[in-house]
Formats: sequence, structure tokens, C-alpha cells
Amino acid sequence: MTDATAFPPAPTSPHVVAERDGGVAVVRLARPEKKNAMTSEMYAAVTSAWVAAEADDDVAVHLWLGQPGAFSAGNDIEEFLEAARTGQLSHAVVDFLKALAGLEKPLVIGVDGLAIGVGTTALLHADLVIASDRSTFRTPFLDLGLVPEAASSLLAPIRMGHAAAFELLCLGAPFDAARAVATGLVNRAVPADQVEAQARETARALAKKPRQAMAAARRLLRAGHPTREAIVARIVDEAEEFGRRLKSPEAAAAFAAFMSRKG
Ligand code: COA
Repeated sequence: MTDATAFPPAPTSPHVVAERDGGVAVVRLARPEKKNAMTSEMYAAVTSAWVAAEADDDVAVHLWLGQPGAFSAGNDIEEFLEAARTGQLSHAVVDFLKALAGLEKPLVIGVDGLAIGVGTTALLHADLVIASDRSTFRTPFLDLGLVPEAASSLLAPIRMGHAAAFELLCLGAPFDAARAVATGLVNRAVPADQVEAQARETARALAKKPRQAMAAARRLLRAGHPTREAIVARIVDEAEEFGRRLKSPEAAAAFAAFMSRKG
């Protein structure tokens, strides 16, 4: 039997690999053939890895990694087509976003390459992001007939100001690594072959800090920001609008165009 409070938990998706690195709980997306597009199964697997890591006293820090060239291409569009039938985002997506917003231990993310949709908005919940200088950050929500998610409508304007947030979230403009650093989405940009090493090194350094002092400092730094409750409330509001939009003719046309683009 698996201990629910020990990290890593038993794997539930072949596309999510969880691994311990000292006091660091490493979660890696592993669906390179689909550019790490996220399925419900993957969201659920990441969520259970984080739940186990939060409960495991030997874990001090979360580290989230993708694949070379693809952190994530965002939500799996085939699953959007499925969700369009019900008009609801899957529970797995909403549970994942709530878990992300509720992490008590620091979250470090290493990004190389594509960071699309939730691959970009998730970064707004991280404590520290290291990206490769070839990374691209893009949220094509509007082009898909959708709305921003992951509480990005709340957190992005706070992080980067309304103008840059609007450009990213509503215009869907791609931000390169330099722009991502300039707008505060990413801490620093490094050569692609150094992303993982630097992200691991940073996570290990954080894991060595006195735990209680780190928890207190993180709480203080976040005290001027929206509360966890406010962030979760926005995640729920956005998900309701997202669900309505999934059923819209605008979204149906955009999904059909993506599915048939190679045919
Ligand atoms: N959902 C489902 N499948 C996806 C996907 C997604 N979000 N992103 C990529 N894929 C799949 C492609 O369909 C393709 O599958 P196939 O080989 O079976 O045809 C595979 O991943 C590789 O993608 P491809 O488009 O061939 O690679 P590319 O380098 O030319 O382009 C992207 C990569 C990410 C720019 C392009 O795939 C894309 O625009 N994806 C959609 C991104 C998106 O809109 N996400 C939703 C955000 S809300």
C-alpha cells in the first residue's frame, strides 16, 4: 500500500514523473510527442504529487519541469472539445488550479521552449521561475473563443500592470524570454542547456533554508497580495465563464480549425 503522505506517490499517469531530489519534490511533465499538452489525467497526477509533497515533512520545496523545448502547450485541445459538450472544465483542471494556488511550500519552475495557455498562467503562482532564453510565453485564450484562467485575470495585472497583462492575456501576444523577465513573469533567462541545472540548484538552495523561517517569510511576502480565498474565488469565476465559452460557436470554430489544420 502507498503512503498518502509520502512523496513521490504511486504514478497515475505515464505523462507525469515525480522524483525526490533531497528536500525537493520534482514533478516533470512527460508528454513530449504532444508538446506537454495537459490532459485531465496529467492534471490529476500533478495534483496528487503536490498533495503528497505538501504532506511529506521531508519535502521543503516543489520543482516543476517540462521537456526540452516544451514546458507545456497548454490544455489538451481534444479535451476542450469533450468539455464543450458538457460546458464545464473537468474537475481535474479546477482541482489542479486550486492545489496550485494553495501550495504552502515554495514553488520553483523551470521552463524551456513553449509555455502556452496554462503553461504561462501557472507561472503567476510560482515563487521563482527560471526560463531558457529561447522560451516563448503565449496565451491564445481569446483566439480560441475562451477567457483567461488560473486566476490570471487577477494575478497578471498585479504582477505586470494592466497594459502588459492585457497584451499577454487578451491580445495573445507572444512574450519572448526578455519580455517575460522585464514584466516579472520570469526571474531570469539562461541558455537552454542550463535551465534544469539552475532550477534544481535554486530549489536545493531554498530547501536548505530554515523551514519555519521560510514559511514565515513566504507568508509575509504574500500578505499584500490577494488571499488564497480570493484567488480560488477568481479561479471558480473564470472556470464558470470558461465553461460557457467552451460551448460557444466561436470556440467550436477555433477547436475545429486546430484539429483539421494538418488535414
Ligand atoms: N492540445 C492537443 N494537442 C496538441 C496541443 C494541444 N494544446 N499542442 C500540440 N499538440 C499536438 C499536435 O496536435 C501534434 O500532434 P500530432 O503530432 O499527433 O499531430 C503534436 O502535439 C505536435 O504539435 P505540432 O503542432 O505538430 O508542433 P509545432 O511545433 O508545429 O507547434 C504548437 C507547436 C504548440 C505551437 C502548436 O501545436 C499549437 O499551437 N498548439 C495549440 C496550443 C494551444 O492553443 N493551447 C491551448 C491554450 S489555452
